[in-house]
Amino acid sequence: QEGKFQAIISHAKEYGFVFSSSEIYDGLSAVYDYGPYGSELKKNIRDYWWKAMTQLNENIVGIDAAIFMHPTTWKASGHVDSFSDPMIDNKDSKKRYRVDHLIEAKAAELAEAGDQAAADALIADMDRLLAADDYKGLRQLLDDQKIVCSISKTANWTDIRQFNLMFDTQLGSVTEEANTIYLRPETAQGIFVNFLNVQKTARMKIPFGIAQTGKAFRNEIVARQFIFRMREFEQMEMQFFVRPGTELEWYEKWKQTRLEWHLSMGTPKEKLRFHDHVKLAHYANAAVDIEFEFPFGFKELEGIHSRTDYDLSRHQEFSGKKLTYFDTEINKHYVPYVVETSIGLDRMFLAVLSNSYEEETITKEDGSTDQRVVLHIAPKIAPVKLAIFPLTKKDGLPELAHEIYKKCAEQFRCFYEVKDAIGKRYRRQDAIGTPFCVTVDHQSLEDQTVTIRHRDSMEQQRIKIADLISTVQAAL
Ligand code: GAP
Repeated sequence: QEGKFQAIISHAKEYGFVFSSSEIYDGLSAVYDYGPYGSELKKNIRDYWWKAMTQLNENIVGIDAAIFMHPTTWKASGHVDSFSDPMIDNKDSKKRYRVDHLIEAKAAELAEAGDQAAADALIADMDRLLAADDYKGLRQLLDDQKIVCSISKTANWTDIRQFNLMFDTQLGSVTEEANTIYLRPETAQGIFVNFLNVQKTARMKIPFGIAQTGKAFRNEIVARQFIFRMREFEQMEMQFFVRPGTELEWYEKWKQTRLEWHLSMGTPKEKLRFHDHVKLAHYANAAVDIEFEFPFGFKELEGIHSRTDYDLSRHQEFSGKKLTYFDTEINKHYVPYVVETSIGLDRMFLAVLSNSYEEETITKEDGSTDQRVVLHIAPKIAPVKLAIFPLTKKDGLPELAHEIYKKCAEQFRCFYEVKDAIGKRYRRQDAIGTPFCVTVDHQSLEDQTVTIRHRDSMEQQRIKIADLISTVQAAL
């Protein structure tokens, strides 16, 4: 699977999906840029999520909060004190390592060598020690498994300590009194602090939700695995505000709703699974991950958390402003409980790429074989929906093809190309996941029909130009 993962990374670069950030300066670790097709795909996934949340739920509305927030936000949320991970430093190399990543890497090594039972036992040990904040035990585990000594022969390591993952910066000029603010490590807090603004202005009644997409920043140590774990990434979060005591019902409902969303994206059922949290955060009374089988194994894709009234109560306490809701049905004021769904857009993008990438061997009519790389992306999120090719550069074919292009491009994203043999043009569209290609030939001039080719089956059929838009739209 490591080979497949490397192939996906190369493909993503070669076809303009994902580039290393500031690549001409050799890149920036765990930061990435999205190219022409990547930015389209990312936008389509985001729009599909947004529509599922806001347009299709009459009781969910959206917001777009700022990345910078008042610094007290992060004291209230608990991030200043406890948004940290256990790390260990090598004093010689001055390198810092995340303890859980070191142990996960060792477990992956064991699994690769065929000892899945040992790998599972190691992860179970780690979960147990992390849950108990037992750093001595974790250090012992690193020694027992010969993890630190395989990185460096010297014994020059620090104890395991907690490091905060938030990036900070100064608001205003440095000469002014320093005022440290943070780049938000999650978008959720922008929703909590706006709870009453939204509830009042949009006249929302509990139960209701607030959705938001946007950048988040975490100073991840040992950020590996391409866009799986980044320092700057995008989240799609929804906080659902409910009457206290009903939160676990809503939690179950959102678990199922989110699983169905993933299935509707074309992700196969067997590549998704729920993973209950062993260690519940102190504010949560239930938490589960939806895991996806990436080329490097099942990993967290989305989190669904029942966060109780923790966040709103803390903001009420720290701001001194009432954040209660008056429930007319039961004639009571209360701080609402919250069920949250939180998914990384970049991680979802990687899931889509991993799931759709195929190196396919095709048997031709004469019995010979050919290779193609195809992305079987669901048409509704594919970067380009329709490519339009004139068969040749002359006889008025480019003019007719371009006319069709202009009409279709008003409805969905299209691509026009005259260069190279048709077969080569098809392959390039397969590689970016375009579900339909249309060829305009001499017959098109006579009877106003074109050949439409389907990406997955490679079947071709003749259809009327007048039916083209509705044919593509039916697949979207
Ligand atoms: N508000 C809840 C929250 O932020 P989280 O489990 O820390 O929960 C939610 O993050 C989701 O954000 C994850 O399931 C993952 O998809 C994504 N995510 C978190 N850290 C990430 C990172 N460093 N790079 C890319 N995506 C990340």
